Amino acid sequence: MDHFDYRNGVLHAEDVPMSAIAEAVGTPVYIYSRATLERHAQVFRDALSAIPNKHIAFAIKANPNLAVLKVLAKQGYGADIVSGGEMKRALAAGMAAHDIVFSGVGKTRIELREALESGVGQFNIELEEEGVALAEIAASLGMTATAVLRVNPDVDAGTHAKISTGMKENKFGVPIDEAGAIFTRLAALPGLAMRGLALHIGSQLFDFGPIEAAYAKVGALALDLRAQGQDIDRVDLGGGLGVPYERGKVPPTPADYGAMVERVTRGWGLKLMFEPGRVIVGNAGVLLTRVIWVKPGVARPYIIVDAAMNDLARPAMYDAWHDFEAVAPTGARMSANIAGPVCESGDTFAVNRDIDVVKSGDLAVFRTAGAYGATMASTYNSRALVPEVMVDGDRFAVVAERVLPETLIAAERVPDFLRD
Ligand code: LLP
Repeated sequence: MDHFDYRNGVLHAEDVPMSAIAEAVGTPVYIYSRATLERHAQVFRDALSAIPNKHIAFAIKANPNLAVLKVLAKQGYGADIVSGGEMKRALAAGMAAHDIVFSGVGKTRIELREALESGVGQFNIELEEEGVALAEIAASLGMTATAVLRVNPDVDAGTHAKISTGMKENKFGVPIDEAGAIFTRLAALPGLAMRGLALHIGSQLFDFGPIEAAYAKVGALALDLRAQGQDIDRVDLGGGLGVPYERGKVPPTPADYGAMVERVTRGWGLKLMFEPGRVIVGNAGVLLTRVIWVKPGVARPYIIVDAAMNDLARPAMYDAWHDFEAVAPTGARMSANIAGPVCESGDTFAVNRDIDVVKSGDLAVFRTAGAYGATMASTYNSRALVPEVMVDGDRFAVVAERVLPETLIAAERVPDFLRD
């Protein structure tokens, strides 16, 4: 459930009409609903109420906006980070360092050191060499790094290939059949406290079959290592829950997920860690755009909107579906293609889509754009970096400014050897 609803025929974010934001900030613009973020954070936590010992770390990569992180910090969420930059954001938003989990297949030695010095609570190690480096750095600082080993369970998550991570040919984690030996070697190193295992098999998951199989495999390995005397107290189950992008395609709920986790992990006696991203922020955001032209096409018109693939990359990258809705629909429908102004045919949001009739100048939104939206934006075609707004009841604020081409140009230099 979200707080983007039609009132008197006009789409609102909570109590604010979209048109008011378009007027004040311009388009395109991402709009987040604080009440929706809070609701999703609570629903996900409630879904895990049967899990006695747990830690929830929001996967910052899904939406690293400081205001969004602040809302989640107030909800008691920690952070799952994958870079030094994400660590800075989590700390700036007031998340406690010991509630931060550092994931990622390519953490540099500098990032590892900075994270240790900042007091990051857990390192999810992706390969043995990284674990050895972390141990050395920690020992040189007179510290002990708390770490878990990410296991690649060799399970096909059944999602888009570009967001699958748990098959053995993927770059993530250590092969499950080598994980026990690697864990044991790392656990013997001074500077490292190896406390458990981690996994994450993919994102936008609709089918719990693969994830359940993966949890069972990794849990069995964790219990096996504990039986061998290893000091295992946790398993990090990652993120991955799907969200409904398309009407009629409804994923399992957080409550379904919680029930599955409780059933599969019953008796483990371990702390469970979660890294939800999309399920928390996906439906808490929309991308507001304005129709520039309705261009006649061969079979149907192209709706050319002022948002483009540089603002919302998901359709171009993953053939992703985002519902498109007029802000003030008339009730009439049309079949159209929806595209942005960028000079690539891939800058197409939808093909042969049944949509509200729109004309030049009309406002519309792409729904479910709160996750992997603004954070994946670029300035391709020298377009401005898209701004972000947060709504709270009847008020709203710009939480990321539109970065104009002038600002981007000012950061560039023409070297002396090109001066006349
Ligand atoms: N933990 C780890 C280790 C991850 O790699 C990810 C996402 C998450 C947690 C959060 O997963 P979520 O709950 O959001 O599914 N840009 C793509 C999604 C990339 C996901 C990368 N990893 C998209 O727009 O669909």
